[in-house]
Amino acid sequence: MSDWKRVGPLTECSEGTLKGVRAGGELIVLANVDGDVYALEDQCSHQDLPLSDGELDGSDVVCIYHGARFDACTGKNKSLPAVRPVRSFPVEIRDDDIWVDVG
Ligand code: FES
Repeated sequence: MSDWKRVGPLTECSEGTLKGVRAGGELIVLANVDGDVYALEDQCSHQDLPLSDGELDGSDVVCIYHGARFDACTGKNKSLPAVRPVRSFPVEIRDDDIWVDVG
């Protein structure tokens, strides 16, 4: 079931950056890849540390702690030490605000 939450203005997640937000009870990392915003669970699947502390390299979210990479668009794990994906959430832009479906 859908549960859309407004997580902030688009201006707070500029192109090529990550931003950690809270939506409902979920910790989420937003990633702006070439102007498109994606949302992943803000918890690395390696040791549960925040992905929002890391950086965006192209369309890869890079965990700052041990270097695991995840596809920002899907949450798929792309390199060790992560061996599991992270959850991804649907995103919509409405009137220059970012909305995430945490349902
Ligand atoms: S906690 Fe992210 S790679 Fe280890």
